[in-house]
Amino acid sequence: MKITDTGDLWWKNAVVYCLDVETFLDWDGDGCGDFTGLAQRIDYLAELGVTCLWLRPFYPSPDRDVGYDITDFYGVDGRLGSHGDLVEAIRTARDRGIRVIADLVVNHTSDKHPWFRSARSSPNSPYRDWYVWRDEPEKEAGAPVFPDQETSDWQYDEKAGQYYLHRFYRHQPDLNVTNPVVRDEIAKVMGFWLQLGLDGFRVDAVPFLLETMGVTDGARKLPHPHDYLRELRGFVGRRSGDGILLGEVNLARDQQLEFFGGSDGDELTMQFDFISMQKLYLSMARQDARPLAEALLDRPPLALESQWATFVRNHDELTLDKLTDSERAEVFAAFGPDPSMQVYGRGLRRRIPAMLGGDPRRIRMVYSLLFSLPGTPVLFYGEEIGMGENLAAEGRYAVRTPMQWTSGKNGGFSSAAPSRLPGPIPDGGFSPEHVNVQDQRRDPGSLLNFMALLTKRYRECPELGWGSFEVLDQPYAEVLAHRCTWDDGSLVAVHNLGSEPRTVPLKLDDCDESVVLADQLCDGTTPLDGSGSAEIVLDGYGYRWLRVARPGDRGVW
Ligand code: NOJ
Repeated sequence: MKITDTGDLWWKNAVVYCLDVETFLDWDGDGCGDFTGLAQRIDYLAELGVTCLWLRPFYPSPDRDVGYDITDFYGVDGRLGSHGDLVEAIRTARDRGIRVIADLVVNHTSDKHPWFRSARSSPNSPYRDWYVWRDEPEKEAGAPVFPDQETSDWQYDEKAGQYYLHRFYRHQPDLNVTNPVVRDEIAKVMGFWLQLGLDGFRVDAVPFLLETMGVTDGARKLPHPHDYLRELRGFVGRRSGDGILLGEVNLARDQQLEFFGGSDGDELTMQFDFISMQKLYLSMARQDARPLAEALLDRPPLALESQWATFVRNHDELTLDKLTDSERAEVFAAFGPDPSMQVYGRGLRRRIPAMLGGDPRRIRMVYSLLFSLPGTPVLFYGEEIGMGENLAAEGRYAVRTPMQWTSGKNGGFSSAAPSRLPGPIPDGGFSPEHVNVQDQRRDPGSLLNFMALLTKRYRECPELGWGSFEVLDQPYAEVLAHRCTWDDGSLVAVHNLGSEPRTVPLKLDDCDESVVLADQLCDGTTPLDGSGSAEIVLDGYGYRWLRVARPGDRGVW
């Protein structure tokens, strides 16, 4: 199997791992994770097969939104370390072949940012026009993103004597990107971090960043919001060559292609596939793979350099906002029936193993499915060992608990008193006593070692990141059989979302009896007959990756 002349599009088959330095490993014992701790664990990530690290915001912040409320875009939160410590961690990662990207959160600042302090202090402040002000709140305001805490996108500011726009919390005033000076500053911020060694950004809240809501000065309208996104991508390209923009765009299918830059692929490099993620949960709840299959088939066709980022959990609520009310109710009933597990009326504040009742067959099936989907998989820290949530933590913090390294004090995260940790550690069946890295490293049958196998196989199967995708016909609603093909390589993946064993008949029209299906996650081969047919046996919640092996293939072993 070969990758033909496609340039260095490293993100097309990367394994991305998202972590918050604050909750990963506390090296100096003050209760807060730090860059020195992260640097100590880069080898762990390399061993897991991670090729791209996504750092959640590490900038100075009052930390009212886990760092998404920034007071200095050029700084490093002193609790996590210095610029020097950050650069050491980046250098160590690069040395192990791991690229590093970080959150770029420029839709808004913290209300404690010096720019906003100045802006609100006087209409004549040079920073006044860096934010969006109105004498009266707009009537056609959008729905607040956090309806439990906000009732409007506009907040009256006593000092300013005007309302300012905030699409998220009121302590996060929106920047005015129609102001060219703001756009220049954003470019400088990106240039700064690229120069320091980052390989790109996870761009926060892209549709909100591009919108010009509330801006009344016609002369200041962006020529076209997507021209601006194209400018940002062009800037990253010029400064870093192969740097990426991985965008958070949770929009309907028909709006996504535009954010990639259509068939030119010159805006976002990657987008999270929120639609497939949500349909995957619906499929699991129903034990019916068809909603997921439909979502995957419904993806718009992308330019070669564009890519979907696939994921099953992230640091936010498991949003189900793109499902209908009744579909969402089905997922809630299956995976988070108690109101304490739900948040904002649209999501779940749980991690996968807890939602699946700790069933190891089902947990592995989900991750096998994730890694077999066409796209680039993104893991949220702790998924690789099956961490659970702590519902005692507030809101979305339930899934942002410290990493569990050992069964010892504070799960080996920190030697500080538990009261100094960033959040409570899960108790019960998902406590560090039962779920930790140290034990799983020593256990060949652990989830951690299974995940390392998945990352290896994913990297060995470029069809998954690069190839074309088709759903294979077979008779069972609960089974997803799909095939990814790239160049002369082809991989079939079969997943059973149901609890009953199934024997799945498959037919590969372009194959005959000279071809065998070679298992990639376990030993075994299945011969095809003269018509290219075979029966694939799956356990309840079973999964198989099968390489389509033709005589003389050198890519198979
Ligand atoms: C999206 C982030 O994922 C979320 O955690 C944050 O609260 C909002 N953006 C606001 O920055």
